[in-house]
Amino acid sequence: MEKTLIILKPDCVQRGLCGIVLQRFEQRGFSICAMKMEKLSNAILGEHYSHLKAKPFFPSLVRFMSSSPVVLAVIEGKEAVEIVRRMCGATNAANAENGTIRGDLALSTQYNVIHASDSKESAEKEIKRFFRQEEIHSYKRALEGLTYSEDELS
Ligand code: PPS
Repeated sequence: MEKTLIILKPDCVQRGLCGIVLQRFEQRGFSICAMKMEKLSNAILGEHYSHLKAKPFFPSLVRFMSSSPVVLAVIEGKEAVEIVRRMCGATNAANAENGTIRGDLALSTQYNVIHASDSKESAEKEIKRFFRQEEIHSYKRALEGLTYSEDELS
């Protein structure tokens, strides 16, 4: 099953929105298979955002992301990378569609509530960056055993 990484950013934690953001993923049918709260260091943020080092907003992004603890989680499920990104909405929350997390909860590019891996390759790297293998759990949600697989229905 596909896995992706999300980070509930400092604005999400400070505004008390972690519960409702995680609830959206659970309600959609995804499993949370790892989760922790951490205050990210400049070193790990430098690595995580290394592709943005030349951008003018890089110092402000790192300052913001280290300004408070964040919640990191691994979300697992069918096409998790793409569907979770779609659920987050556009990076600039002012342009995010209504019904997406950013479209419902934010208006800013920096204070945009959540980070989610943008490809399967990034997801693999980002999960390894923030979680040890033993922190990632594998379990079936109770309802999974009660539903028909799509193969059985077709
Ligand atoms: S870019 O410029 O297209 O490479 O950036 P993008 O992929 O849209 O965004 C990457 C992350 O940078 C954050 N970002 C910003 N932060 C502060 N100010 C400005 N202007 C800004 N533009 C982009 C954006 O929230 C993305 O954060 P993550 O954690 O990856 O969602």
